[in-house]
Amino acid sequence: MAIMSYSVPREIYYGENAMGKLAELKGTKAAIVTGGHSMKKFGFLDKAAEILKKGGIESIIIDGVEPNPSVATVRRGAEAMLKFEPDWIIAIGGGSAIDAAKVMWCFYEHPEVTFEEIVPVGSMPALRTKAKFVAIPSTSGTASEITAFSVITDPEKSMKYPIVSGEMVPDIAILDPELPSTMPPDITANTGMDAMCHALEALVSIAATPFTTPYALEAIRLVTDNLPEAYAHGKNLDARMKMHEASALAGMAFTNASLGLVHSLAHKLGGEFHVTHGLANAILVPYIIAYNEQFTDQYAYAAEVLKIDNLSANVQRLNAQLSIPKSFQELNWDGLTAEKFEAVLDRMSQHAFEDPCTLTNPGTPCVADVKMIYKAAFYGTPIELQK
Ligand SMILES: NC(=O)c1ccc[n+]([C@@H]2O[C@H](COP(=O)([O-])OP(=O)(O)OC[C@H]3O[C@@H](n4cnc5c(N)ncnc54)[C@H](O)[C@@H]3O)[C@@H](O)[C@H]2O)c1
Ligand SMILES: [Fe+2]
Repeated sequence: MAIMSYSVPREIYYGENAMGKLAELKGTKAAIVTGGHSMKKFGFLDKAAEILKKGGIESIIIDGVEPNPSVATVRRGAEAMLKFEPDWIIAIGGGSAIDAAKVMWCFYEHPEVTFEEIVPVGSMPALRTKAKFVAIPSTSGTASEITAFSVITDPEKSMKYPIVSGEMVPDIAILDPELPSTMPPDITANTGMDAMCHALEALVSIAATPFTTPYALEAIRLVTDNLPEAYAHGKNLDARMKMHEASALAGMAFTNASLGLVHSLAHKLGGEFHVTHGLANAILVPYIIAYNEQFTDQYAYAAEVLKIDNLSANVQRLNAQLSIPKSFQELNWDGLTAEKFEAVLDRMSQHAFEDPCTLTNPGTPCVADVKMIYKAAFYGTPIELQK
């Protein structure tokens, strides 16, 4: 019997005004890492700096982290940290800001290490000799505040690199519903369905364990019950809190059980056509449930536990409530025409098959299965079952 492990942040503070917990940090200097404008505009950066100041911690802001953060952005942030010498790194923003801050942290602790050296899974050297890490998410989807992952882009090579290391699991996650309450409806829908897909994929993953399945189940329940309300009434802090909890729980499941074909196919479709990650997931997931149902009884188990008649119908109903179309053809995404889709289909299917997430999907899918699912999801046709 193999020895397994299960990692999550040491502390998770959650609830209205949870950001106030920053006042209890012990230290002298903090680097706050954030994205473009939203966190500044809505006053969350000033609020964080003020709380830290009251607790005796001086802070700097490292801003301008772009969506899909680049290696250059990460290096720039690490340089600023090397000058300032913080003992806390506090990431405030969406998955992009938190992911970038995680790798800045690595280059701050180990300036001599190259990006190439940390790309192989688990190769990151030990962190926490100079600083500890707090993540405060402003979207409810990636769960970067929980996970051992960071996704960094090399624009020169047009490559997105998933960096994986238990070292990067944050020390503290703070889930404060005020932050996501400023998300517009489309980002709420896309990131919320990303969380749903994390939970659904962790549920049926062949690496699922008794330490992951309960979190996946609860995340599915919370997204089902709260995403339509968070989408329609963004200022409802109760719905926002429940979506934050859902995302974090799904993160606790997938950082330990990994993902599956929804993410494999979405990653490569995103790479080719820049379709927003959560949106691509949401369109793909009903097709992949139909495929996976041949190989797993976990959906039926989840439906029974959650008292939902059918998990596929459940996500299709949610998609409809969030105005997410049923197929990529219906989505009519700029540049994603049938002609261009067919032109890259073989290459994209091969790459999606090779994505690490495919390894934990039930049913040992082959390249032809991946291609068949892509076609079904593009044209909105039923998938071909094997039995
Ligand atoms: N680390 C992980 O485990 C993990 C998992 C999945 C994806 N990712 C990565 O995370 C990134 C995506 O993160 P994301 O989906 O959170 O989006 P994001 O961080 O890229 O943000 C998307 C947009 O929403 C805006 N925004 C964020 N919060 C807001 C708020 N509260 N109010 C108004 N606007 C707001 C941002 O400014 C940005 O324009 C990608 O790079 C993806 O590859 C990481
Ligand atoms: Fe995702």
